[in-house]
Amino acid sequence: MTQKTKKSTNFTTRNDNSNKRKRKMKTLVFASNNAHKLEEIRAILGDKYEVKSLKDIGCEVDIPETGTTFRENALQKARYVKKHFGFDCFADDSGLQVEALGGEPGVYSARFAMKNGRQVTADSKDDVNMDVLLEKLAGKENRKACFRTSVALIYEGEEHFFDGIVNGRIIDEKRGNGGFGYDPLFVPEGYDKTFAELGNEVKNGISHRARAVAQLAAFLKAESGK
Ligand code: IMP
Repeated sequence: MTQKTKKSTNFTTRNDNSNKRKRKMKTLVFASNNAHKLEEIRAILGDKYEVKSLKDIGCEVDIPETGTTFRENALQKARYVKKHFGFDCFADDSGLQVEALGGEPGVYSARFAMKNGRQVTADSKDDVNMDVLLEKLAGKENRKACFRTSVALIYEGEEHFFDGIVNGRIIDEKRGNGGFGYDPLFVPEGYDKTFAELGNEVKNGISHRARAVAQLAAFLKAESGK
């Protein structure tokens, strides 16, 4: 009997706490509709923040990215959401930077083939981007490259940035079927396989995006505990 009463008291207490937590949960918009990225972020921050996508807030615009750096592009997206929808928000922008090409493709990573006059479809884009990269690197000995992600966060009236980098090198031919983008050409430092061969579990442990998001998460978790 005593035990029963105690059990039920404990249950009520736990429930009250979780309701309080829910009531206090702050909404943050992640300026993206990429289901994979959203799932990843919600898994990290879901117990502290209600993370909404662009679709969730009714934003159907393809927010312009006209900056010359990853930070500028990420901030452009976050500011757009804050200005037009009023939510605190974070956004990311990523790409590949190749030393022998002066940092190209950089902010043009997604549009590299088109920028170089190639026709692409949604299906052929990644492949043609890699072809263009290999053509530009032909005969060059320096194969150093890095992937970079910048996250811009607008939080309680202030702007913050979180950057993640993974260094590596570009090989001569595509290897592996995993990942996306330039993964089949990129071998991260300390490995002899490409991101496309290493698979998502290894990649997500060391990637530029994972590193930037870990910093964002640490900041937001600290803020939520204040
Ligand atoms: P986003 O800003 O994350 O959409 O990335 C822009 C472009 O950079 C992508 O379309 C890819 O071409 C390239 N990119 C970014 N991250 C990666 C990655 O992890 N692997 C391969 N390519 C990437």
